[in-house]
Amino acid sequence: MTSPPGRPKGEQPECVARRLSCDPAGFAGRVIRWQRTHGRNTLPWQNTRDPYRVWLSEIMLQQTQVAAVLGYYERFLTRFPDVQGLAAAPLDDVLAQWSGLGYYSRARNLHACAQQVVQLHGGAFPQTALVLQTLPGIGPSTAAAISSFCFGERAAILDGNVKRVLTRVLGFGEDLASSTNEKQLWCHARALLPARELQENMPRYTQGLMDIGATVCLPRNPGCLICPVQTQCTACAEGRPEAYPVKTRKLKRGAESLWLLHARAENGAVWLQKRPTPGVWAGLYCLPVFASRAALDAALPQPVRGNVREVEPFVHVLTHKDLHLHPIQAMLPAGWSAGEGAWFGAREWPGLGLPAPVRRFLEAV
Ligand code: ADE
Repeated sequence: MTSPPGRPKGEQPECVARRLSCDPAGFAGRVIRWQRTHGRNTLPWQNTRDPYRVWLSEIMLQQTQVAAVLGYYERFLTRFPDVQGLAAAPLDDVLAQWSGLGYYSRARNLHACAQQVVQLHGGAFPQTALVLQTLPGIGPSTAAAISSFCFGERAAILDGNVKRVLTRVLGFGEDLASSTNEKQLWCHARALLPARELQENMPRYTQGLMDIGATVCLPRNPGCLICPVQTQCTACAEGRPEAYPVKTRKLKRGAESLWLLHARAENGAVWLQKRPTPGVWAGLYCLPVFASRAALDAALPQPVRGNVREVEPFVHVLTHKDLHLHPIQAMLPAGWSAGEGAWFGAREWPGLGLPAPVRRFLEAV
């Protein structure tokens, strides 16, 4: 995502150039009133202004559905109840708690962010989106969510769902693949913010936009008939809400095949290695990964090579590519070593930070 242009010192020129197609005060008021009665108001990260809890939820909710986050959120808070405890914990423990949520750079940034909050900000989260954005893993939209929820700051969010809502309401047909157009949309998002009673209105407005995006203004078959801003929505009036947002650049998905060595010892231990940073599953514990079957075979002692079991390959979907995973099982003497890594017993490995497909595989075999 591109950054929004610097703090608006008054109106930005491009904001003035394009007139808004809807009345900002009316728009914000409708979103706020609707949120009170129709929005989500009982999620575990709501009804608090504690920035630690709100920050954690916003990071977990990046690219992840609410339903998937719920269990992780409570467990994480039980293990790390405050920013000091999180900052002082080993990264391995944080990755273990994150294991299965995916996008592990979030967990590494979370840990680095906690350390900066403690070391640079005396353990208190900054209260403005501008300063929050200087912390690892906090982009402009996440920063605005935190500052509006916790401190009532008049700051605009613009995540994927909110882009859809605003481009439709405004009939914003410019291509968001262009950073100039995206900056323009940021300007509009700021112009639509509530202007008064910010302490009460900003959290509700921010949540309301998220809720409309997640429950009403869906990518396909949006619920225009139950939408609180239907009468202000250009896309609805045009009868083509699904034409927005316009984004031409398509993700080119790739595919990669990886061979996983499931080395087991007589005593049931499994050999795991820590994945290098950067790269897929960086910092997590994993079965040894090879780019080819020949490379995997070369890591095995000669007598074991002819005595391996090929497990049915499976596909794991990442954002940019499909991983075709080919597990190969082999029994190895307890004195064997793959160089890097160690044997982990059946009581030890479940507590480690493992990639979700590797955990599922180990649990199934
Ligand atoms: N997605 C991002 N932030 C959220 C929030 N506060 N509630 C629900 N979904 C979200």
